[in-house]
Formats: sequence, C-alpha cells, structure tokens
Amino acid sequence: MDKFLIRGGVPLEGEVEISGSKNAALPLMAAALLTEEPIHFQTVPNLRDIATMVQLLKCLGAAVQVSGENALEICAAGALTPLAPYDLVRKMRASILVLGPLLARFGEARVSLPGGCAIGSRPVDQHIKGLQALGAKIQVENGYVHARSEGRLRGGHVLFDMATVGGTENLMMAAALADGETLLENVAREPEIVDLAVLLNAMGARVEGAGSDSIRIQGVNTLHGCNHRVMPDRIETGSYLVAAVMTQGDVTCRNTRPELLEAVLVKLEEAGACLKRGGDWVRVTMRQRPQAVSFRTLPYPAFPTDMQAQFMAMNTIANGTGTIAETIFENRFMHVQELNRMGARIAVDGHTAVVQGIERLEAAPVMATDLRASMSLVVAALVANGETMIDRIYHIDRGYERVEFKLRQLGARIERVVR
Ligand code: EPU
Repeated sequence: MDKFLIRGGVPLEGEVEISGSKNAALPLMAAALLTEEPIHFQTVPNLRDIATMVQLLKCLGAAVQVSGENALEICAAGALTPLAPYDLVRKMRASILVLGPLLARFGEARVSLPGGCAIGSRPVDQHIKGLQALGAKIQVENGYVHARSEGRLRGGHVLFDMATVGGTENLMMAAALADGETLLENVAREPEIVDLAVLLNAMGARVEGAGSDSIRIQGVNTLHGCNHRVMPDRIETGSYLVAAVMTQGDVTCRNTRPELLEAVLVKLEEAGACLKRGGDWVRVTMRQRPQAVSFRTLPYPAFPTDMQAQFMAMNTIANGTGTIAETIFENRFMHVQELNRMGARIAVDGHTAVVQGIERLEAAPVMATDLRASMSLVVAALVANGETMIDRIYHIDRGYERVEFKLRQLGARIERVVR
C-alpha cells in the first residue's frame, strides 16, 4: 500500500491549478445514462472514484472513451443491463447515483445497497422515498434496491426530510424523463446540483430552480447528447488554501470559482489570512500563526463538512481554542486520534470537538481513514516537526488529483513511498 513521507516546515508558495470537481463529475457521468447519444465531458479529474464510475458505466453496458487529457466520452446507446453489482457499489457509495437514471430510461434498476462507511451510516431512504413518489415500485431484498416502473415514471411532489445532495441528484435525473411536472422541495443547494442542472438542460431537460431550496422539472420524452465542462473542485481549492495558511505561505489557486467557497474564505480571514480573489482565482497570504476558529458544518451555503477535517488540522496549531460541531455525518472525527498522535490537543464530546492550539505538531506515523481525513493529515504533516509517514493514502487518491505533484510545485517536501 502506498504511503506519503512528508517533511514539514516549508511555507507553500506559488500557483496551483485546480482540477474538475469529483463530486460534480460523478452525478454528471451517471446522467449520461439518460440518453443514447454521446456526452463529451471536459475537465474530468483523473481519480480513483472516477475510474470506479467508469467501470460501473461499462459494466452496465455503456461505452466510455478517454478522448484526451481529462476528457471523457460516454455513450449509453442500445440495451443496457440495469444492474449495479455489490462489488462495484461497495467501492464507492456514489454508485447509487445510477439508480434514478437507469429507472427513468429503462423502467427497471437493481442497485446494490451501499454498505457501511467510515464517516457515518449514510442511508438511502430519501432516494427511495423520492422515486416512489414518482410512481416507482421499490423492493429492498438480498442487499439490493430493486426499482421498477410500469411505463414512464410520472411527475410528482417530493419533500425531502433533509437536504441530501445525492438524493436531490438522483431525483433530478429521474424526473427529467418522467411524464409531467415534478416539484422537489427542501433540496440540497450545493453548486454540484447546479452543475448537474446545467448538464441536464443542455441535454434537453427542463430543470428550474437548482441552487435554491426547490427544483421544478418538466419531464421530457427523450434527452440528447452535448458537451459539458465539469465545474472546478471547491473542496480541493479550500484544501490548498488551508495548507498555505498553516504553513504561513502565499498560494494562488487558478481555474477555480471563489464565490463557491465563501463560508470557507470567511473562516480563513477570521483566522488572520489575507485573501484576494478574481473571477477564476483566489490568492491567500499568511505571515503569522493562525487564530483558532469555531464553526458548525451545515448544508451549502454554510460551512461544508468536506472541509471540517482540514480546518481541524489548522486549529491544532492555531492561537487559542476552536470549537467544531459536525452536524452532517455522525462519525466524521476519525482524524482526531491521528492528529492527537502528532501532539494535537483535541477533545471530542459527541458531535463537538474542542481544539486547543499548540505551537508545533510533532511528526508521527499516522493512518488515513477517509478522503478528507487524509488531507487533514497531509496538511498537519506539512507543518510538523520532523518526518511524518501517512499510511493508507489510497483514500486521498480517490479525491485529490496528483496531490503530491501539486504540493511539490508549491515547495512541499512530499514523496510517495510505493510498497
Ligand atoms: N441521508 C439520509 N438519507 C438519505 C440520504 C442522506 O439520512 O437517503 C443523510 C446522510 O446520512 C447524511 C446527510 O443526509 O447524514 C447528508 O448526506 P448527503 O446525501 O447530502 O451526502 P451524499 O450525497 O452521500 C455528498 C458528497 C459527500 C459530502 C456530502 C455532504 C458526493 C459523491 N459525495 O454525499 O462528499 O460530504 O454530499 O455535502 O457528492 C467527500 O467528497 O469526501 C464526501 C464525503
């Protein structure tokens, strides 16, 4: 298993190109199942989760071609096998995103239930409830969700119990081909939802309201092919900014959209960072030890759960004490024990972590437990005294494109140790 060896102490300086967003690309790729015409995607990040989605689409019978660096063509022509097997779904929970499009286009889908997850139980009851409201008959048996509809799905009204990103996406895709109008309420407002709506509309769908808390969709008979550029990764952007702030550096993120991470930028300013932003770039400069910050993770546009671990790492070396409440996932503090092994002072009580800042972390062998937890260990190692070895970095390869190259370009001393 690959590991990262990181020698801390270098302020990060320079420019970094931000990749396309993983969490936008996954539902966009699933949406290609809604038409028999090819969809051409640009700025698709080269990541393990994307490779898993490619594998899944091929297994369903779609043709997927790499048509250039970060470009993909997906063509789901002809009769597909609407079965997403456990072996693939267990590798990546986002596989559940094929449920809505398969059901809408073929009238049937069998998708394995995703298993347990390191950050929480993550049920899919809202996806199921929503599809039932569009007329689907759903049975959960032998670990599979088996969904059927007689003829087309029909438009309906779905009021979600909570703002679910994946649930909203599945229902948008299903409703795009349903007969009649669908109203989705209490939906997620994440920018990735807006990117999906842009793609669906370019395919001929009629989706309105994405980015607000209700989405109205007029179903159409068929959808067609198009070109689409995946939006920039706001979480990758935020992660490099945190790394720059912690190392007291000066980093510009290019090809990004700073307006999509306002809650993160506000907290970095509160920590004492100086930010400059343009339409597609953001620059952070930091010349002092950060001030501790407190926050709660909440659905967009509030502070994202996917940045919680990286900010916790920042608080470990900050001036003062910060309180962090995680309200989205019930078990997203797995990085705490690892950060504490590096000398951090973090106490957890239920959903709240209290981080007492110290002057300096000490290198230690640590283990990555999930994607964002991995990044928190990387940024912690960048400021620790000595050499940190991070094990199980396959987690980071799921969601950060060429992370060690990008960090090295900024001056970091990071090596991949291949075993
Ligand atoms: N939930 C339910 N029932 C459902 C669906 C969700 O109870 O049917 C709960 C979840 O258990 C969770 C909350 O609702 O407590 C929010 O979950 P959501 O459905 O919004 O999350 P997701 O779609 O499974 C996406 C991202 C995650 C990100 C969350 C929250 C993708 C592929 N994944 O997950 O990204 O943390 O939204 O913003 O888009 C990551 O990139 O590291 C990552 C975990």
